[in-house]
Amino acid sequence: MCEEPNIRQQFLKGMSFSASTVNVVTTDGPAGRQGVTVSAMSSVSADGPCPTLLVCVHEASPAAAAVLRNGVFCVNVLREDQSSISDSFAGRLGSAGYDKFACASWTTGITGAPRVIDPLVAFDCRLSGEHRVGTHYIIIGSIAHVFLPKSGGSPLIYSNRSYARPTELAI
Ligand SMILES: Cc1cc2nc3c(=O)[nH]c(=O)nc-3n(C[C@H](O)[C@H](O)[C@H](O)COP(=O)(O)O)c2cc1C
Repeated sequence: MCEEPNIRQQFLKGMSFSASTVNVVTTDGPAGRQGVTVSAMSSVSADGPCPTLLVCVHEASPAAAAVLRNGVFCVNVLREDQSSISDSFAGRLGSAGYDKFACASWTTGITGAPRVIDPLVAFDCRLSGEHRVGTHYIIIGSIAHVFLPKSGGSPLIYSNRSYARPTELAI
């Protein structure tokens, strides 16, 4: 148990001061095609037999169960001009049951997971671990392929509960 009252509100407020990239986790396979927008994405390790990353997905998202069953997923790191893709996979486009994938063009990675045709970067992963914490699954992926952009670009940022773009500091 946490000792402080209102610790959840303080946690959410505190996290709003942090910043992250905006990523769409997609999967396909026996459990079907699913995807979800996440800010909770991090490198775990570049070393070992395979580099690894993690994403955290709410247990209620159909994408969580699909990733766990399909055993593959792609982390699509969005460009600064791709907030509409984020909104689609965050269920923000209004009517229930719409096709989230209709917002972009797709190709298939070597794992079979869908990849946005022109993300900033994408990590095609095989599921290598899962851990349930509270309402979320920590999903760990071993990197099978990295899609790198030919001409660079800038990430879409999520901070202060809003989208933003990075500004380089002139030091
Ligand atoms: C910028 C942004 C970041 C989000 N980050 C996460 C996250 O890290 N993990 C998560 O489970 N949901 C996250 N969400 C919420 C999910 O995208 C949203 O609840 C989900 O897509 C709802 O639809 P679903 O239940 O059909 O998956 C985020 C939403 C937005 C807009």
